[in-house]
Amino acid sequence: MTDLILSLDVTDRSEALRIAAAVAPEADAIKVGYPLVLAAGLGIAHDLAELGLPLIADFKVADIPNTNTLICEQVFAAGFSAVIAQGFPGPDSVLACVDAARAAGGECYVVAEMSHPGARTFFSEGVPERLCAIVAETGADGIIAPATRPERVRALREQVGTKKILSPGIGAQGGDPAAIAALVDGMIVGRSIYGAEDPAAAARAYAPYRR
Ligand code: XMP
Repeated sequence: MTDLILSLDVTDRSEALRIAAAVAPEADAIKVGYPLVLAAGLGIAHDLAELGLPLIADFKVADIPNTNTLICEQVFAAGFSAVIAQGFPGPDSVLACVDAARAAGGECYVVAEMSHPGARTFFSEGVPERLCAIVAETGADGIIAPATRPERVRALREQVGTKKILSPGIGAQGGDPAAIAALVDGMIVGRSIYGAEDPAAAARAYAPYRR
């Protein structure tokens, strides 16, 4: 099963709700990050949760364990069902997110490697593999890995086994759904859906890649 995850990076509350409602029948989850929450407030999560889809908080949480706990408690209390954390602060910081997720019946994903060109500066030379080891150690649910580099997703699949891989970078960043869908559990798509004239139709175009 390859899910389609709408990345809802718009900064207007009513536009966000309109696009989310239109795309919801074509999608399996909605990912919300700082752009929308800083513009519309954390309460947007409760409104979006009413659509009945899992809601992923892309806050790339990256602090000391205690602060990560406090952040994640707010995330799950707001109605999110999953959180994305950075792994570079170390296993204890990730574990704090995993524990908060579990306490709320939710999930935690760890960024293993990023999709943009500059990511190569630090996400290289075995670092993503070490981050995958933290995922195994902490019991996190899976990783975020770049659709822009299918060969790297293949390599990281070797590391994480059956844990989930959610993959951003499709469409606007150049990633090809035909090349990535079979390798991952979720395709994260933002601009090429929410920026389209007809977001529902744009989302529907990914239907052949949802298994
Ligand atoms: P676009 O518009 O490029 O949006 O389809 C992609 C969404 O995914 C986020 N993103 C990432 N998140 N690791 C992450 O954890 C990544 O490598 C990565 N690349 C993109 C981005 O912030 C946007 O919300």
